[in-house]
Amino acid sequence: MTEKTYHIVTFGCQMNERDSETLAGMLEAQGYSRIEEKKDAQVVLLNTCSVRENADKRFFGVLGQLKHAHEADPRMVVGVCGCMMQQQHIIDELKKRYPWVDLVFGTHNIADFPKLFSAVTEQKSHIIEVLENAGEIVEDLPAKREYPFKAYVNITYGCNNFCTYCIVPYTRGRERSRRPEEIIKEVRGLVESGCKEITLLGQNVNSYGNTSYCGSYCYKDENGPDFAGLLRQVDAIEGLERLRFMTSHPKDLSEDLIQCFADCKHLCRAIHLPVQCGSNEILRRMNRRYTREQYLELIDRLRAVCPEIAISTDIIVGFPGETEKDFLDTLDLADRVKYDSAFTFIYSVRKGTPAADYPDQVPEEVKHERLIRLTEVIHRHQEAKSLALQDAVLPVLIEGPSKTDKTMLTGRTEGGKTVDLPAPAELIGQIVPVRITKAQTFSLYGELLCTR
Ligand code: 5AD
Ligand code: SF4
Repeated sequence: MTEKTYHIVTFGCQMNERDSETLAGMLEAQGYSRIEEKKDAQVVLLNTCSVRENADKRFFGVLGQLKHAHEADPRMVVGVCGCMMQQQHIIDELKKRYPWVDLVFGTHNIADFPKLFSAVTEQKSHIIEVLENAGEIVEDLPAKREYPFKAYVNITYGCNNFCTYCIVPYTRGRERSRRPEEIIKEVRGLVESGCKEITLLGQNVNSYGNTSYCGSYCYKDENGPDFAGLLRQVDAIEGLERLRFMTSHPKDLSEDLIQCFADCKHLCRAIHLPVQCGSNEILRRMNRRYTREQYLELIDRLRAVCPEIAISTDIIVGFPGETEKDFLDTLDLADRVKYDSAFTFIYSVRKGTPAADYPDQVPEEVKHERLIRLTEVIHRHQEAKSLALQDAVLPVLIEGPSKTDKTMLTGRTEGGKTVDLPAPAELIGQIVPVRITKAQTFSLYGELLCTR
């Protein structure tokens, strides 16, 4: 074990990635530095996700691997946090099967991490502290950002939508919006330090400001901006080059927000708009509060305002009660929308959510067969969209070495597609023009048009 080192394993979504940056910042403020190998670190934190069952399983797998390293060196501190910790049955399992874990804390305790961590290291005690409800939003926490050139900025926390399959409203609590001035201050600071791309984050960014801004508990400003208003304010920040947001709930996607794709200079022409399902009956049972017709209308509006917009989505197959006809409606919707890309999921029973108790669960083999049929449709359109980019010249933000070929760099288009290209490492963090030389379903290859 190397003294004063840490390693954080992050499961799940961008919210968790952002929380891990805060935890890393807190550890670095105490003189710890990050290392690659978790078994060699003095402090290992596992930031968990509970959105689907396989994330739970992966967490317990990684935790099991740490047992020997922890036994071998009692100075090692293993902490677990994040969404799974907000569920009592997980805490019970940890107590029973993993009593050696030093620190357990929840999604609402992130700001208290330094205090909890000191208690563990100084008193050598085991601590479980999981707040059931969120307190006020704590601003100005330290952060060790993953990238200097792109950053996530939270605008809301929690979710009030209670889609019947989803655990998030139970693990992340009620929706709270950050004060607009705090968001603007954070973005300004990031841009001043050289950040090029900002992604505004929330479970449902479109309902920003619908609930109170929580800064001093709980402040409400009737005249404050809604999400489109906030987006326009952030877009106007001097020096910002790319602006993105995620995730949008279709039921709250306003005409004004759609108009932002025409008006905002730095807003990337891309939107992630989870549809979840194409059947009205299943959408109703999912509590999504829109119909397939309303969703398709939104897609038409987005493309009318911004014809080149890249549209991605999330789709669940095998929600309880999903018939073959319901599933055909999903296939039909996917065929009509022609998504640029989609995350497709098999419905996973989440204890404590309404759908977990629905009696008409779909057999596993039916779910798997539907997933294969759905991905075939998604990939067909994805391929067509990718092939259409052959020979195009696109601005690409160079992010780092390619994952598949270390001699190449990889970057991202405005539409969110990755492009591999030969380029000098000095270009990492720059937006450069790239000609697409080879377009495939899942990957694009390109060449630099000019370096300056
Ligand atoms: N089963 C399968 N997929 C789920 N998602 C959320 N909950 C579940 C579940 N119980 C998917 C949704 C959501 C994405 C982040 O994860 O599609 O948009
Ligand atoms: Fe889950 Fe629905 Fe909230 Fe998204 S909007 S986090 S799917 S409850």
